[in-house]
Amino acid sequence: MANKNVIWCDSTNLTKDLTGKTYIVTGANSGVGFETTQQLVKQGAHVVMACRRVEAGKEAAQAFNGLKGSYEIIACDLADLQSVRAFVSAFQANHNKLHGLVCNAGMVNMHNEPRYTKDGFEITMATSIDGHFLMTESLLETMKNTGESRMLILSSVVHAGNPKNRYQLHFDDLDWKNRKYNNFAAYGEAKVASVLYAKELSERAKGTGVTTYSIHPGWARSNFGGGGNGITKALMSVTKPIFSLLNFSDSSWESAQTSLHCLLSDEAPKHSGAYFSQHSVLYRDKQCRKGGWPMESPNPHANNMADARKLVEVCRQRVGLHRF
Ligand SMILES: NC(=O)c1ccc[n+]([C@@H]2O[C@H](COP(=O)([O-])OP(=O)(O)OC[C@H]3O[C@@H](n4cnc5c(N)ncnc54)[C@H](OP(=O)(O)O)[C@@H]3O)[C@@H](O)[C@H]2O)c1
Repeated sequence: MANKNVIWCDSTNLTKDLTGKTYIVTGANSGVGFETTQQLVKQGAHVVMACRRVEAGKEAAQAFNGLKGSYEIIACDLADLQSVRAFVSAFQANHNKLHGLVCNAGMVNMHNEPRYTKDGFEITMATSIDGHFLMTESLLETMKNTGESRMLILSSVVHAGNPKNRYQLHFDDLDWKNRKYNNFAAYGEAKVASVLYAKELSERAKGTGVTTYSIHPGWARSNFGGGGNGITKALMSVTKPIFSLLNFSDSSWESAQTSLHCLLSDEAPKHSGAYFSQHSVLYRDKQCRKGGWPMESPNPHANNMADARKLVEVCRQRVGLHRF
């Protein structure tokens, strides 16, 4: 049964002919990314599925057989800068146009101690930001040369925190090396960074045809939050149907609506850089709960342009782009 609170992408956007258009979706094998990919292929697009696990991508893509468009799978582990560079090279070898880059993949570390990538980054931040930053910056010229191109990055309601504790970037310790680790705070901070990056890139890309969006997709009944211990897994399987019945959570298709709106509507580019949110009972600020396309984040740290510019400067250093 559909969640009555869902904001739906206008059906005219879901019937547009996308033949000849190319998109990249990260994390395309699961949940929101899978539904976004399937819809784009249905409408005739060519989608490059950037998957950490190629076999999982192949299995998921069986659902696209017989659809109007096409797809290919290229391996990409966002938590490994070398893998992102290899992905970009493989993409550029065969494509010179990119109409949409959907930085969709994300994860929460279900263990209460930090995990570090081989580049030395805390894994939540590395997956949400460092990997997507390197991919986006490396493909920016291709996007500009496409004429009109859209970059989406998935944030989360969690980035908003609560009125007494708003998440913010700790530039002196983005990787939790000198603070007591909190996995949900790490996720919240990574998602603040996502909102800020969309804002900064929109400003920098003004007039080039590239527009940007950060997104809270809703509370998706996807595979998100897996990978914890037995207790967490058991808790998730019991609570999922209850949240669904209470109209708190959404199917992955419902959660793909915001991404599809930002990718396909004529209205979205008028709000480049903005935060687009599906409804969410999880906002601690009641006025935000119905969501908005777009809406202002209640977290002032996610609206701070000085932090947004600093984040980009710092990310350039982290991913090695400052040398170019
Ligand atoms: N579910 C929610 O309620 C919710 C709420 C707010 C925001 N979000 C955000 O929405 C986005 C999509 O989440 P979802 O609900 O669709 O979750 P999901 O079903 O768990 O899908 C996440 C996808 O990200 C991929 N991924 C994780 N780490 C990766 C890495 N290092 N490199 C490449 N891909 C990686 C996963 O690949 P594997 O299959 O290989 O793990 C999977 O394809 C995420 O950014 C999430 O933070 C979700």
